[in-house]
Amino acid sequence: AIIVPIGSTEQHGPIGLIGTDSLTASAVAHGIGECNGALVGPSVSLSVAQFNLGFPGTISLRASTLMAIVNDYVLSLKRQGFEQFYFVNGHGANVAVAKAAFQDIYAQWSLGSMAGQPPRCRLRSWWDYPQADALRKQWYGLGEGMHATPSEIAMTLHLLPGSERKASPQALAAPAQLPAAFLRDHGGDNHWDAQTHQAAFPDGRVGSDSALATAEQGKQLLEAAIAGGCDDFAAFV
Ligand code: NI
Repeated sequence: AIIVPIGSTEQHGPIGLIGTDSLTASAVAHGIGECNGALVGPSVSLSVAQFNLGFPGTISLRASTLMAIVNDYVLSLKRQGFEQFYFVNGHGANVAVAKAAFQDIYAQWSLGSMAGQPPRCRLRSWWDYPQADALRKQWYGLGEGMHATPSEIAMTLHLLPGSERKASPQALAAPAQLPAAFLRDHGGDNHWDAQTHQAAFPDGRVGSDSALATAEQGKQLLEAAIAGGCDDFAAFV
């Protein structure tokens, strides 16, 4: 088995780092690897983020490109004897794309173009592990929002002390809460085009009160996510 961190390269609001999703996924993945004595592969750090292309620093793959990368990553290591691929995710838009890629991987065995034992793939987002999910709900409530979340900002503050970007109190005022219909329709970063997205969320935060984040919370969130991932990886293999 091998653990694969998968993140993104995109804006993260007034104080967050462009590499947030890859930094967090990589840290959680390495913690799970240490816990289980498992190998951690190189991170997939570019992803589908077309909705954030209005913000400098964002690099987006098309969904079909990311699916091809996931396929080639898995089949390269499958050829060398790896059988189980556990993706630790840090970016909402990866969920649908990676799961579609897994289906196309299995289809190569189902349709007969590949022979032998097929690989097994799983993707988990670090904030969905029950231990981490409980903390973010307790600390941030609806202020967690959907992007530039205080939980992911907290984790990068812990991982890279002093990396906090400066912003005025005005720029960090709590954003409006997201309507229930928006949460229902746009979960998993199911956003529209970049122009529409930037017009709706001009400072890059999507209902997230990033300023709630502290480095100490980030330390606890990282430990909680690793604990949850350690159990889930053990169950997977
Ligand atoms: Ni993020």
